[in-house]
Parts: sequence; C-alpha cells; structure tokens
Amino acid sequence: MCGIVGYVGARQAQDVVVDGLRRLEYRGYDSAGIALVADGRMASDKPAGKLANLEKALEESPLPPSHTGIGHTRWATHGAPNDANAHPHLGGGKRLAIVHNGIIENFAELRTELETAGHTLLSETDTEVAAHLVERELDGGADLTTAMQAVCRRLAGAFTLVAVDARAPDLVVAARRNSPLVVGLGEGENFLGSDVAAFIEYTREALELGQDQVVTISRDEVTVTGFDGVPAEGTQYHVDWDLSAAEKDGHDWFMRKEIHEQPSAVADSLLGRRAADGQLQLDEVRLSDQDLREIDKVIIIACGTSFYAGLVAKYAIEHWTRMPCEVELSSEFRYRDPILTQSTLVVAISQSGETADTLQAIRHARVQRSKVLAICNTNGSTIPRESDAVIYTHAGPEIGVASTKGFLTQLVACYLLGLYLAQIKGTRFGDEINEVMDQLDQIPDQIQSVLDREEEIYAIAGQQVGAKSVLFLGRHAGYPVALEGALKLKELAYIHAEGFAAGELKHGPIALIEEGLPVLCVVPPRGRDQLHAKMLSGIQEVRARGAHTICLAEENDDTITPYADVLIRLPQVPTLLQPLVATVPLQLFACELATQMGHDVDQPRNLAKSVTVE
Ligand code: AGP
Repeated sequence: MCGIVGYVGARQAQDVVVDGLRRLEYRGYDSAGIALVADGRMASDKPAGKLANLEKALEESPLPPSHTGIGHTRWATHGAPNDANAHPHLGGGKRLAIVHNGIIENFAELRTELETAGHTLLSETDTEVAAHLVERELDGGADLTTAMQAVCRRLAGAFTLVAVDARAPDLVVAARRNSPLVVGLGEGENFLGSDVAAFIEYTREALELGQDQVVTISRDEVTVTGFDGVPAEGTQYHVDWDLSAAEKDGHDWFMRKEIHEQPSAVADSLLGRRAADGQLQLDEVRLSDQDLREIDKVIIIACGTSFYAGLVAKYAIEHWTRMPCEVELSSEFRYRDPILTQSTLVVAISQSGETADTLQAIRHARVQRSKVLAICNTNGSTIPRESDAVIYTHAGPEIGVASTKGFLTQLVACYLLGLYLAQIKGTRFGDEINEVMDQLDQIPDQIQSVLDREEEIYAIAGQQVGAKSVLFLGRHAGYPVALEGALKLKELAYIHAEGFAAGELKHGPIALIEEGLPVLCVVPPRGRDQLHAKMLSGIQEVRARGAHTICLAEENDDTITPYADVLIRLPQVPTLLQPLVATVPLQLFACELATQMGHDVDQPRNLAKSVTVE
C-alpha cells in the first residue's frame, strides 16, 4: 500500500507533490520519490528512507521549476527498500516516469520479454517493467494515454499506475485495477491521489474511478476511458472529511480502517502465488526444494497475535504435510533448550520484523544450524534480513497498535507455506492444493460479507459496556481465534478476557461461569461433526450455568440457535480457513467496545506497536 500523487496546473508541481506525499506518508515510508516534467526532460529524485530524505535531497539539489509532476511513498513489496527500487521508475530512454501501487502478477514474464529485446532494467521491481513497456509504446508513436491503455491490457494483478512523459508537459495519465486512485478536480489544475488526503488541501471536488479505467488529466480537462480506449465515466463527489479523517479513509481509528482493509490485504497477499501451470510459487523463499524436502519438523516462534497465527498454522501444516509442527512463544523458545537440527525449519512470524524476543530466538536457531523462514509484513526489516527465507505478507503499513490485517495476512502466509511444503513433499496432490487456493481466493469477499454486518456487531458490543470479564471459547482452529479475540479485548478495552479450548472448560475454568457472564463461542463448521457436536455441548454447559452466550456460527447452522443468546453469522468456509472469517467479528467487537468506553483504540495504554526490547 503506497502513497501516490499526481499534479498538473499553475502551481509549482514540486510543492504540491511533496505536500501530498507528506499527507500520505502513513501509507508507506520505505522511500519517497518525485518526477517533474521540465523543458522537455524528466527531472527526478528518489532516495530511500522517509520523506525527509527526499526533502533534504531536493534542498541540496533542487529540481527545475515545473507544473507537471508525480510522486510516491513506498511500502516495499517486490525488492528491498533502497534507492534503486524506489519510485518513480523511468523507461530506458528516461522519457517516461511512472509510480505504482499494487502488485503486477505477470511482471516476471514481461521482464524477460523486455530483457530479451535488449532492455536493461536497474531494479528488482515490477514497476520498472511497466515503465519500459509504456515508454516503448511512446517510442512507437503512441501518445501517453494510448500507451497506458495498451500496457494495462497486458498486465495481470492489482495496480494503480501514474505516469508522465517528458514530451507531454501538460499531461498526467493514470490507470487502476483493484487498487485505489482518485482525481482531485481544481480550477485550472487537477490532481491524482491514492486517496483524497493527497489533494484535500487544494480541492474537495473528487472523481472516483472505476475498475480497469485510464484517466488523463491536464490543467483544464479530465477524460476517462476503459483500458480499451472506449470513453467512460468516473463518479464525482464532494469530500467532506477533514485531513485527519482522510488519512483514516473516513474511519475514526486507523484500526477500524485496517479492519476494513482486510479483504484487499488478504487478496494482495494471495496475488502472484500460483504460476501459469497452477504450481504454487513463493518467490521470496530462498530455500531450495531439496532443502525443504529434507525438513522433518517445523517449529513456529512468535509473540502475541503472531503467536496465535502460528497456532492456527499448526493445524494446517500438520494436516497438509503430516510433519510435526510445534508452536512456541519466542520469549520461551531459547530458554527451554529446544531440540533443533539441520532438518528443522524454524518459522518466525512477525508483522514488524523487529520484535526482540523473536529476533533473539531466530539467532539461537541459526546457531543450531536450523533453517529459518520469516513471515513478515515489513520488507527489509531485521528478522527477514537475518533469515534464510521469507514470505512477505502484503497488508501494507499497520498503524493501529492492535494487529488486525497483519494477523489475517499472516494466516494467509502460513496457509501458503503449508501448501507449498505439501507440494514439495508430495503429501498433497496438485488438485487438492489448487482446491484450497480456490477456497482462499473466495475469502476476501467472505470477509467483506462479515464487515457488511458491522453495525449488528457494534450493537452487541455496546451491550457489554461495563462487563468486568469476558470469556472466549473455541475448538481446533477456533481455539487460537478465541485466544486472539481475548487479546484484542484486553489490549483495547482493558477488560479481563480469557480464551479457552472449549474442551478444557470442565477441567477448571467452568468454575468461572456465573449469571450473565459474556462468553463468546466460535462454533466450528458442521463439516467436522465430532468437532461441532462437542462445541455445542460446551456451549450448553456454560449456558446452563448462567453464561450469556454470544455465538459465532456459520450461515444455516440452526443447531446452535437454542443455545445462543446472541448469534453472529459467519460465511461457510472450510474448517481450517474459518479463522480468516471468525476473527473479524471479534476485532470489530473489541474495537467498538473500547470506543464506547472512550479509550484510544489506535494507541492503547502501556503498548507499543513493535516491542524491540526483550
Ligand atoms: C497484537 O495486537 C499486539 N500488538 C502484539 O501482541 C503483537 O502481535 C506482538 O508484539 C508481535 O509483534 P510482531 O508481529 O511485530 O512481531
């Protein structure tokens, strides 16, 4: 998730672009760059690091005056966060500059085509491939709009592209598919942004673009077409948010915004994972198939929410690979003198990639000569850098201290790892793997169906204001969901909350049950009857003792109705994938309850986003 700005008009483009990038910096801060069209040339600067580095560079080496320009703040997906990979990217002739948000799934084959045709690419990014393709069209006589249309017809994946041509000083052209892009409509000037925060200071009149559209802006004109060149329409609207709301996409909290970004975050984390022949491909995994074939045990290490992602992963990895999979708190791992060999794969799950407990744990594992694979959301952070291999999630920056989209995309990465290991070890046939991948491809819409019912969940949360304790129950893959739901409530509402394996209740915790105690119950899908039936009996046990049961159960599961004081419906998904949809109501529940209690949801007391001390 990157920040993008485009401008054409009477102002100094550099000022408008840098101002816009400053307001979009929360979207990504691995690097920032700018390109301006001046005197028939492209003037550009793009240092790695925060926006301040770009501003310093522009002070030291000013770019020429210009009224047409684009800018970008990067959240790295393909390629480390360095100068070479920073945007904008230029075509080989330095005529065309382009910035990009998203993932071009077929960039590898397009890169090969370009290199075979003699192009030299300087970065590891998918974006530079687009730059060379568009410039090649320009050099073939196309105008910038036509060139963009032609290239977009060849791209697969999710992308927002914004480009300028050194020989067209009054134009900025952009395109979008499954990635945000909005036009700011001014007087004698027009703007482009990945969201309205980019230009809200200059205009509140905006034009929302549809799927697979190309927009061309000049000082006085905005024209929209499809990728096929057929004229199309955007949707004009007035922006009534203030700047703070714009950064949160209109939500009150970054956390609430990030909960709602989960459909796209999950979709982005799934992009490009299947090759044309249907085989899974994890391009950042730098371990050979032979290395992975020799693995006979997996140990997952993580903290907090990431640890709960590991607990879910255990069910999936063991089921698909038939390999033992242990899950260990990073802070406990190296003190228990774990049994590690060269055939052990240690998987470190970390959103930030900087958690000290997890970093120390992987260092211990590497001394024992085990292979280490990181699952991380932050490209270029310490943990992936010190690992043998990495699977990056593509959740974009997670600003809220309480992890939400970070967790769901970790689950996706864990499922991908389990399926990839099964593919390598031959413990699952290709069609079985593709069946799960097809199920995963449905998940973004299924998450959205839960989000569409958020008001119902907020009402349920409002009824629990004042609760002194809340319990969460789950079985199988629903047990880690119960633990995560309890953690969210602890972190945000500062209420005592505890997650239990439902089968464990009768071994002690049931003594906690008293009249009116809220108990949230994650009911497994009915596909696994022995699991479902046993969960129902656990719910009956607590309800019989006065618990207020709030049950999360799949659509059409009427067996739960007699035992649920409150029912939250979930879309029907396979048992192993249910955490991807069952977690969402618990995130919304905790966020709303804490909001109604007047707490700072984005920065809860005593917590830090990344715990860089042991
Ligand atoms: C999650 O809501 C918490 N903020 C915390 O438990 C977090 O998951 C944990 O500190 C691990 O962080 P990491 O994923 O960045 O390593």
